Amino acid sequence: MPPARKTHRVLFVCLGNICRSPAAEIIFRKMVDDAGRTAEFKIDSAGTIGHHHGAPPDHRMAAALTSKGFTISGNARQIQAEDLERFDLVVTMDESNLADVRSLDTAGKFPEKIRPLVSFCKSHDDLRVPDPYYGGQRGFDHVIALLGDGCAGILEELG
Ligand code: 4NP
Repeated sequence: MPPARKTHRVLFVCLGNICRSPAAEIIFRKMVDDAGRTAEFKIDSAGTIGHHHGAPPDHRMAAALTSKGFTISGNARQIQAEDLERFDLVVTMDESNLADVRSLDTAGKFPEKIRPLVSFCKSHDDLRVPDPYYGGQRGFDHVIALLGDGCAGILEELG
C-alpha cells in the first residue's frame, strides 16, 4: 500500500468572513475535490472580526459564485489564536488581515505559515484581494477571479 499522503490544513482569513474568505474556501474546496484530492485537505475560513458570527456568505457573493457553478456553504466565525496551531497555512486577503493575523502570533512561532493570497497568484499582480463589501457586482467578480488564481497556486505549491 502506498504511504498515506500528508493532510494539508488551510484556513482563509478576511475581515468579516462573509465575502472573500468564504468564497476562497468554496473555490479551493471545489478545486481540491475536482482534483480528486478531498481526503488530503482540511479547509476552513474565518474573519478577524466576530461581527457576522454565524452568518452565511453575503448574498451578492453567493449570487456571483452560484452563477459560476459553485455551491454555497459555510457560516462566519472569528479567527482564534489557536487556529495558528490547528492550520498549516493561513491565507489572508489584504494588508489589514495580514497584520491582524500576525498579531495573534504573539510568540512569533508561525511567521512562515501566514501568507497573503496574492502571493500565490500566477496571472494577477494585484497587491491585495480588495474588500468588495461596499462596491458593486463587478468587485465580486474580480475577487472571484483573484481567488481562483491564488487557489490554483496554493494547490500547485502543496503539490
Ligand atoms: P469580507 O467583507 O471581509 O470579505 O467578509 C466584509 C464583510 C463585512 C464588513 C466588511 C467587509 N463589515 O464592515 O461588516
